[in-house]
Amino acid sequence: VLRGVVAVDGPSGTGKSTTARGLAMRLGARYLDTGAMYRAATLAVLRAGAPLDVAATTADGHDDVVAVVLGARLDLSTDPAEPRVRLDGEDVGAEIRGSEVTGAVSAVSALTAVRAHLVAEQRRVVDEALAAGAGIVVEGRDIGTVVLPDAGLKVFLTASALVRAGRRDAENTAAGRSGGPDVAADLARRDTLDSSRAASPLRPADDAVEVDTSALDIDGVLDRLQDLAEDRD
Ligand code: C5P
Repeated sequence: VLRGVVAVDGPSGTGKSTTARGLAMRLGARYLDTGAMYRAATLAVLRAGAPLDVAATTADGHDDVVAVVLGARLDLSTDPAEPRVRLDGEDVGAEIRGSEVTGAVSAVSALTAVRAHLVAEQRRVVDEALAAGAGIVVEGRDIGTVVLPDAGLKVFLTASALVRAGRRDAENTAAGRSGGPDVAADLARRDTLDSSRAASPLRPADDAVEVDTSALDIDGVLDRLQDLAEDRD
């Protein structure tokens, strides 16, 4: 049973969510999907009709977008068996994976004020888990670098572009969603935005263990991470 913190970062399509959640189950730990928080915040912005340039990675301004995010009530369960996301009391777990939110989320998450607000909330959730004697696996883009720089284990997942696009495609099909005209192009676009933004860009922490998942199945990745976590905890 894990007592500490495991940070799992990396671009989309590396199997990050499946891996982080599966690891939490194996380790008897809690699980926090920070991407779901940025997605739910983005859904709030879209619903409020706040003006947003989805191709922008500006870190400042956009006071109306920030105001919507600060006013939204997000509620995430940290049970890996049932990772529920609520926005103002409504279960939005399916809607936040849709193409509208996916297309806009990088622009919302580029804003410094949005990040400051959600990072504080992420740290609060982690502190609460640790205070209750539980460990927690936290996944995102900046967990090892910014949110939890003292995490006992930091993992950075990678995979080839082709493998990542194939996985995202399969995920969309399984969920009965159309991935849009070009899943590979959309992933590449989001990676570029996430990696090139000024505020907390996607990059591995200096002390992160990089795991290339291209040639591994989910159990292979989980075996490797479980070994690493048990060594460090
Ligand atoms: O992981 P997921 O694909 O659900 O994340 C959606 C988006 O949320 C990412 O493309 C990124 O723009 C943003 N994000 C972030 N920082 C995190 C987690 C997600 O900026 N820690």
